[in-house]
Amino acid sequence: MSIVLDALPKAAFSVLASSTTLKRLASRYGMRRPDSFARRFIAGESVAEAIEAARQIECQGLMVTLDLLGESVTSSDEAARATRSYLETIAEIERAHIGRNISLKLTQLGLDVDRATCVDNLRRILDAASTGEFFVRVDMENSPYTDLTLEVIETVWSIGYRNVGTVIQSYLKRSDRDVARLSGLGVRVRLVKGAYREPREVAFQQKPEVDAAFVDLMRVLLRSGNYPAIATHDPAMVEATTTFATQQGIPKDTFEFQMLYGIRRDLQAKLSGEGYPFRVYVPFGKEWFPYFMRRLGERPANVGFVVRSLFREK
Ligand code: FDA
Repeated sequence: MSIVLDALPKAAFSVLASSTTLKRLASRYGMRRPDSFARRFIAGESVAEAIEAARQIECQGLMVTLDLLGESVTSSDEAARATRSYLETIAEIERAHIGRNISLKLTQLGLDVDRATCVDNLRRILDAASTGEFFVRVDMENSPYTDLTLEVIETVWSIGYRNVGTVIQSYLKRSDRDVARLSGLGVRVRLVKGAYREPREVAFQQKPEVDAAFVDLMRVLLRSGNYPAIATHDPAMVEATTTFATQQGIPKDTFEFQMLYGIRRDLQAKLSGEGYPFRVYVPFGKEWFPYFMRRLGERPANVGFVVRSLFREK
């Protein structure tokens, strides 16, 4: 079963992710019980559940970033609602005294509606975040948004916000230039391989190429970035990072590792035990379906786990 599932292309999951029937079914069963399948990757639908998950993670000596799931909103009303939800999340995090770090997507704040609305919404969040000394990470979406995302980051940076960073994807062929551009400014970068299906004109298609680019970018960021985050579950990438840092005498506290909630908890605990700062990305909220499908696309063997849970649900 797992061999068959592993052969499913990432593309199949992109198609399934747009199915409204599947979304309806998943939304009905995915979070219903504490052992429902989506809970493996998503902390819950409410901020209270995310805070509870964050507390458990922090008890183990790890840090968190909370992501209120949502993307691709199509009206300024929806974008305003998402912004208000983020402001409420910031207030809840402050009240709960957990780590002050959030992640968000610009299409959630109206990037598809118009750029000015998106910048205004982001500034409202950054203002609230600055007062509470939060760090705000702007996730990177698919390649039509790369330039727009970097331009929005540069806009808020030029206004004077410093509590904001973004993400660079090693599968994009342009990323070495973008790393140089951001490092030149001092913007904090999270390095990832990239989660979307991209055309070969803009992105490497083979894992060895994506991995080689990841290692090159990691080295540049460790040498000249501003407290980079190396975000991967791949033991080979982790090993390349720790080896490079040791060889170059780069102190452990000048960068951090990050992984997603529910993935490779063994490796999370090991790295943190070895003294590397470690942050877990904790996604929550009702709009979890696209995020969930991307995780399945990365490791189709997880589908077997979902199917088994569905049978338990009945
Ligand atoms: P890769 O996919 O090559 O997997 C290596 C190994 O990791 C696998 O063999 C398996 O053992 C394990 N693994 C990976 N994914 C798994 C899964 N879903 N379930 C179980 N095991 C799994 N992307 C993006 O485009 N924009 C963004 O803003 C972000 N943000 C982000 C934040 C953080 C904290 C992380 C860790 C990742 C992201 N990503 C992202 C996702 C990223 O681009 C990438 O899709 C995933 O991290 C999977 O790639 P890996 O580096 O883990 O390697």
